[in-house]
Amino acid sequence: MKSIQLYNKTFKLYLPYEDIQMAVDNVAKTINKELKDVDTPIFLGVLTGSFMFLGDLMKRIDIPCDVVFIRVASYEGTSSTGEVKQILGLTKSVKDRTIVIVEDIVDTGTTITELHQILKDAGAKEIKICTLLFKPDNYKGNLKIDYPALEIPSDFIVGYGLDYNQLGRQYKDIYVIDEDTNAKNKPINKI
Ligand code: IMP
Ligand code: MG
Repeated sequence: MKSIQLYNKTFKLYLPYEDIQMAVDNVAKTINKELKDVDTPIFLGVLTGSFMFLGDLMKRIDIPCDVVFIRVASYEGTSSTGEVKQILGLTKSVKDRTIVIVEDIVDTGTTITELHQILKDAGAKEIKICTLLFKPDNYKGNLKIDYPALEIPSDFIVGYGLDYNQLGRQYKDIYVIDEDTNAKNKPINKI
């Protein structure tokens, strides 16, 4: 599909599935290599956005590991609220374990910074950050993003797990908001 419509907004094709899979391949190879001697790392999927990425990533991870989920929310519409809500907490002890946080996207860095603190407080030994997408121009955090699969500009995107107000997660490709079409379709207020 060249474009999709979610509510009143149009999104156009941005990253086709094949490009995403190539990026997942590469990041999985790096993780397999770097963590090969680590004792059973925990891959911590950040719900809901990371579910597709985590599924594709884990099929390529060949070291013994655990998979756990945590659920947080910080976005409303197309921008971050700056506040992270923990909706489903940690369901497994992370004490003295190496954790790989698996995110769909790191934008301002608020979520990842908060998660890092939660894991540190819970006694994690080492915390690595893996994300499918990274928006370096928006990033305000201090933590190193260890394993970014793809770097993108600050545009708002959907698909492959990512949503716009809960819609659009199921698409296998990634779409970017089409500002031109959306501007043209805006109702004009006549005075
Ligand atoms: P941060 O806390 O500002 O880094 O934002 C991280 C979270 O906001 C991500 O895990 C996503 O759920 C959401 N998010 C950030 N950018 C986008 C986007 O372009 N599309 C959809 N969700 C996004
Ligand atoms: Mg997320």
